[in-house]
Amino acid sequence: MKILLASRNRDKQREIREKVSSLHIEILTPDDFPDLPEVVEDGDTLEENASKKARTLHQLTGVPTIADDTGLEVDFLNGQPGVYSARYAGPDATYQDNVDKLIRELQGVPEGQRGARFRCVIAYIRDGQLNTFEGKVDGFISKTPAGESGFGYDPVFYVSDEGKTFAELQLERKNAISHRGLALDAWVDHLRKEIHITDSK
Ligand code: IMP
Repeated sequence: MKILLASRNRDKQREIREKVSSLHIEILTPDDFPDLPEVVEDGDTLEENASKKARTLHQLTGVPTIADDTGLEVDFLNGQPGVYSARYAGPDATYQDNVDKLIRELQGVPEGQRGARFRCVIAYIRDGQLNTFEGKVDGFISKTPAGESGFGYDPVFYVSDEGKTFAELQLERKNAISHRGLALDAWVDHLRKEIHITDSK
């Protein structure tokens, strides 16, 4: 089965491919189709953005499509940057710009008040039928970045049960416990029921 992943983000592509690596699924990306437009993420919620990305590319290609929208909700910042996580430090912000801004905003905030969560919504649409799946993980924003793996805010997202930041975890371990991994698990459960998909291993 071929599924289009409505994202040009190679870091998300890598995590999603790893998650389905044991299934009979081929993940396509927008690069496999000529002239697909960029979808503007102008929704007020993760659900809206993920659904818009999935629906738009599904309508243009006819291929079953998934899309991921993710936000980091920081308690001390009243849930910000949330749906605006990609643009936290400005419209063209790099991962590093966003991490630097977050560290600045939380300067001097004590350990007990640095709680945060990642929330991921996966939208999946097949033959015009759309479903969404959510995954969440709680952690803390560390005072200094640690680790080289992962992407985005991973170097400052500290998970107490692991005693590590997401960027210090192997890809498989992050995928087992992360917001995206949990949302993908729910989506794969749905797929198994929908098309009786089986493991190849
Ligand atoms: P979006 O889902 O592409 O809008 O991503 C929102 C922002 O969160 C971007 O700045 C991403 O880099 C960041 N982000 C998304 N997923 C993750 C993750 O798994 N770990 C760390 N940062 C992430």
